[in-house]
Amino acid sequence: MTTPTDQADIDLISLPGRELDRDELVELVRAVAARPELWEEHVRYDDEHRHYVRLHRDAHAEVWLLCWTPSNDTGWHDHDVSAGAVAVVRGAVVEHNLAIGSDCLRTVVPAGHSYSFGPDHIHRMTGEAEGSVTIHAYSPPLWRMGQYAISSSSVLRRTSVSYADELRPTEEPFPNDQARLRDALI
Ligand SMILES: [Fe+2]
Repeated sequence: MTTPTDQADIDLISLPGRELDRDELVELVRAVAARPELWEEHVRYDDEHRHYVRLHRDAHAEVWLLCWTPSNDTGWHDHDVSAGAVAVVRGAVVEHNLAIGSDCLRTVVPAGHSYSFGPDHIHRMTGEAEGSVTIHAYSPPLWRMGQYAISSSSVLRRTSVSYADELRPTEEPFPNDQARLRDALI
């Protein structure tokens, strides 16, 4: 895993010097995806710790390279106030969307496709194919993110985490929500 301080600090396609909307974020990830000279040297794979490198960050936007194996899983999360876009460059990843009262949505996104989302988006991404590569852009840049977990009694909980933390499924055992609520009642 490469930490955010190891960013490649590339001179990206000219950015407008303000926050980008979703369409602009899609344009940005597609433009970076089309220029492997900007990210190719950073591609690595790790089943245990998802490999990612920040390619660019300024006051308004940031761009990341992510590398995926089928073992890699972000867990459920949001991006706080940031909008984002993803371009799949190689292989395929899965976009999961949380649903209440029905099965979660599972969408395989193959190489050559891209999508965007607003700050209201909650998702989980997993690798689908060996050797998958994605380019992500966020605006404003990530600072805090929400990481979600579902307790054994199906209660959804959110934890605020730093953008620098590796997102992964929460593995801690959750307390019994019913007992917790009962103890909290006065
Ligand atoms: Fe995400």
